[in-house]
Amino acid sequence: MNILVTGGAGYIGSHTSKLLKKAGHLPVVFDNLSNGWAEWVKFGPFAFGDIRDEEALFRTLTGFKIEAVIHFAAKAYVEESTRLPDVYFDNNVSGTISLLKAMKRAGTKVLVFSSSCATYGNAQTPTIREDHPQAPTNPYGLSKLMCEQVISTTAPVLGLRYAMLRYFNVIGNDPEGEIFERHEPETHVLPNLIRAAMSGGAFRLFGTNHATPDGTAVRDYVHVMDLGLAHIRAISELSTRERLVSNVGTGAGVSVRELVATVEKEPGARVNVEEKPIRPGDPPCLVADNGYLLTWFHHDFKPVDQAVREMAATIRAGS
Ligand SMILES: NC(=O)c1ccc[n+]([C@@H]2O[C@H](COP(=O)([O-])OP(=O)(O)OC[C@H]3O[C@@H](n4cnc5c(N)ncnc54)[C@H](O)[C@@H]3O)[C@@H](O)[C@H]2O)c1
Repeated sequence: MNILVTGGAGYIGSHTSKLLKKAGHLPVVFDNLSNGWAEWVKFGPFAFGDIRDEEALFRTLTGFKIEAVIHFAAKAYVEESTRLPDVYFDNNVSGTISLLKAMKRAGTKVLVFSSSCATYGNAQTPTIREDHPQAPTNPYGLSKLMCEQVISTTAPVLGLRYAMLRYFNVIGNDPEGEIFERHEPETHVLPNLIRAAMSGGAFRLFGTNHATPDGTAVRDYVHVMDLGLAHIRAISELSTRERLVSNVGTGAGVSVRELVATVEKEPGARVNVEEKPIRPGDPPCLVADNGYLLTWFHHDFKPVDQAVREMAATIRAGS
């Protein structure tokens, strides 16, 4: 299939594009490079543009005869969203509305949307099922929930088949090291942790008095290659069903201190932890109930230590 990948120059989008190409699809990347890298668009054509530009999207959808869209493009920094909520709602929500309008005009009928466990807010149960209340604690999570609502209300009227995948924390990189995680600034825990361990610099651990067993935040870390494969599977699922709303997580929680201990198993790695207060809007524990996911995506998830080894090898190789 010819598949439009919005945000395909970013972290998850570039890894998914590689997997799409490997599976025989043509990934067409649409990205404004606000947080992506042109050199990572190497698995198919690149259409430079902003998702809020409906005309540019329409031209790309029709020009490349796009059959399905995977919509990754978004601003995705929780802390930044608390300072710039207007920018987040404009980029993420207006951008998604613009995409739906362009898909309507172009007659494109399949959409996979990047949602997030941030739509749930504070967990009321040890693991979170898809029917858990959605009460986001920050504007980023709210922007994702608003997109979900816009899509689920609009899609039946437009005749769209859609998947909304609520990812938990994404880690790891392409085991071949061709693409990897690269954000500026980098706010994600694992690349910061590994870089600190290798350079001897400080690793800032945000929050040591959460209501969790060791006081640090507990998250469910899903490998980016597993996540990419879930998107490809979701597109196949949409050939036989109208909608799919599912978590994507491993079902296992790992605390930041446990992550530090895993990184310290790497040869020569010693982490100099600098303890910092909890960041605004950061829930203590987010772990998926992945029972529903496993009914449509039969998959063995890569363990966290494998993600650590692969990322450490990529960083050591100079990336
Ligand atoms: N990384 C995670 O742990 C995680 C967890 C849950 C959900 N998500 C979601 O997954 C998606 C991808 O996340 P990521 O970590 O790869 O982020 P990323 O920042 O690496 O990639 C996002 C890409 O979207 C592009 N983009 C942003 N706004 C745009 C616009 N207006 N027009 C065109 N392109 C635009 C950026 O340039 C970037 O290349 C996001 O929607 C994010 O909310 C990520």
